[in-house]
Amino acid sequence: RHHILSLADFTTAEYNAVLQTAASFQEVLSRRTKKVPTLQGQVVANLFFEPSTRTRSSFEIAAKRLSADTLNFAAATSSMTKGETILDTAKTYLAMGTDIMVIRHKEAGVPQAIAQEMDRLGVKVSVLNAGDGQHEHPSQGLLDLFTICSLIDPAQPRIELLEGKKIAIVGDILHSRVARSNIWSLTASGAEVHLAAPPTLLPKFFAEYLGATDSENLKSKRLFTHWQLEPALENADFVMTLRLQKERMTAHLLPSLREYHQLFGITRNKLKLCKPNVKVLHPGPVNRGVEISSDLMDDPEFSLIQDQVTSGVAVRMALLYFIGSGRA
Ligand code: CP
Repeated sequence: RHHILSLADFTTAEYNAVLQTAASFQEVLSRRTKKVPTLQGQVVANLFFEPSTRTRSSFEIAAKRLSADTLNFAAATSSMTKGETILDTAKTYLAMGTDIMVIRHKEAGVPQAIAQEMDRLGVKVSVLNAGDGQHEHPSQGLLDLFTICSLIDPAQPRIELLEGKKIAIVGDILHSRVARSNIWSLTASGAEVHLAAPPTLLPKFFAEYLGATDSENLKSKRLFTHWQLEPALENADFVMTLRLQKERMTAHLLPSLREYHQLFGITRNKLKLCKPNVKVLHPGPVNRGVEISSDLMDDPEFSLIQDQVTSGVAVRMALLYFIGSGRA
């Protein structure tokens, strides 16, 4: 695999290669030196046309731990403010010797368009999608998978460990690229995936729409949608809660935050419906007290939110390693 743009066509072997490689990089990160020479001489450019805290910083530290040189770009302080286009920006970074472009944009399809342009130019640059609009966030999906699988078996995290587990994905599904990437990986694992959201944030056609994009792959999978929270939480092993993406909503979609918290906010009390050892995930950033209660978010007995951020470094090292060494 030359680019990593989506999890829709990831194979079981690829998921397991990422999980096992991330586990070995986690071991590297526990050493005093924390570094390997794998990508020495390569340039990783973080081209973020939309704000980010954890994705941009963890790709940067991941690249540095692999001994790559890193370039960081933020649209607001770039020559795009003078009218330079996205493709011309990417070509500028290409001319500086960039080997891997990590791209985030508020519009779906921008990383794919840049990858196509690089392929058309016949250059060996790899593109990694760091979140494109409402479409996909593959590195987040993979770090979520790694966080869960390595909780079950830290020595040998593998996708098969999720077979038969019940996973609830709760919240603003409509606007969530994280939900879309997680739906691909979790349904591929054999887990039972339950989506729960108000009707405005979980259109009736959602599951059918995903099925239509890859009917052979998804129709046989166990994917359920609910407009109430309770059926999704009953006996769940893991609950993934999502941020209300107010910046992507028109006013008529934005629910009352108090009512939303009452109906779909994850609290200790609501977790009583789940398995006793249930764990809660959130990709961040969090609207505290809206999609999850503040005390639950900080409770290490239930919350994996900080573990997700930590996992992100090793998983992104694995992704950079695979495309940087041309082995994915
Ligand atoms: N989860 C995630 O993508 O966070 P950032 O927007 O901070 O990168």
